[in-house]
Amino acid sequence: MLSFYTARTIRWEDGKVILIDQTKLPNKLTYITCTKPKEVVEAIKRMQIRGAPAIGAAAAYTVALAAYHTKANNLPDLLKEIEEAGKMAKNARPTAANPAWAVERTLSAAKKATSVEEAVKLVVKEAETIAEEDIEACRKIGKYGETLLKDGDTVLTQCNAGALATVGYGTALGVIRAACEKGKCIKVIVPETRPALQGARLTAYELHNDGIDVMLIADTAVGFVMRKKLVDKVVVGADRITSDGHIFNKIGTYQLAVLASEHSIPFYAAAPTSSFDLKSKAEDVVIEERSPDEIVKIKGQRVAPKGVRVYNPVFDQTPPNLISAIITERGIIKPPYERTIKHTLTKP
Ligand code: MRU
Repeated sequence: MLSFYTARTIRWEDGKVILIDQTKLPNKLTYITCTKPKEVVEAIKRMQIRGAPAIGAAAAYTVALAAYHTKANNLPDLLKEIEEAGKMAKNARPTAANPAWAVERTLSAAKKATSVEEAVKLVVKEAETIAEEDIEACRKIGKYGETLLKDGDTVLTQCNAGALATVGYGTALGVIRAACEKGKCIKVIVPETRPALQGARLTAYELHNDGIDVMLIADTAVGFVMRKKLVDKVVVGADRITSDGHIFNKIGTYQLAVLASEHSIPFYAAAPTSSFDLKSKAEDVVIEERSPDEIVKIKGQRVAPKGVRVYNPVFDQTPPNLISAIITERGIIKPPYERTIKHTLTKP
């Protein structure tokens, strides 16, 4: 059995990208091997790999695959090819900040080369570094974040911000893992997280597998469990954080934050600095909408009338006034975010 304290969601092996197929979990643990950039992009679109840092690493590996298997014999042709691959990876899912950040890093590495061979080496190395750094960032997020949790706390999370959403260890679940590693007894409550059920399929699986006490609830039970005083803290991940502290995360996060505020429960977001976007305004961030089928069907079985109107946004926006602190690998950021985020991200 895999331990999600150490498991890797995605890895590079001699010109191949190997990733866990998350659409098959929790029933089957299977891997997909990609040799073409398009195959990784399809895996991102189908959510076989998902979670902002994980799709960031996948985007970097998409560029690495394009470089590694190139037939180009001059640098301008190679750059064109890898830029194309990077564009596909960035556009696969629009809300997370990490893919564009990762593609930018790999392309910048290639631009330092003076030959095709050197460019290939630099791009593959950069993709590997991005993946390694993500695990390190998650460990540091855990180290800082666990100080916010007390022995005996029950933490409510949303979706899956665990090892499976990153290259390894996790962000929100990294905070919980680090607290458990410190010997604190932490219980977790996770809503199922319709429509793609990442809470039920992935978070419950990861934590249960690692022997961390997890209780699954229906999305509709969140207010009730808070009112019953079953929740001490909320810790969620983030797909994109703007410079003024708006958090874009899995649909349902905003209602958790509103309910947490109503019940005076601290609400924390945990994310690596690669998920921050200091350039965009919150109102310009694109919220991904996915197929109506995710709502009208359960396990392929129709549960709503044919022809009914459906709206399926899969992320939402939580405003800074509802966020107690943001946990990053550079430390814990507290309000006022319009000042502290820039300060934390730009300090050497
Ligand atoms: O649609 P998904 O499964 O990619 O959404 C994932 C989330 O919303 C996570 O909470 C987020 O990416 C943070 S993961 C460390």
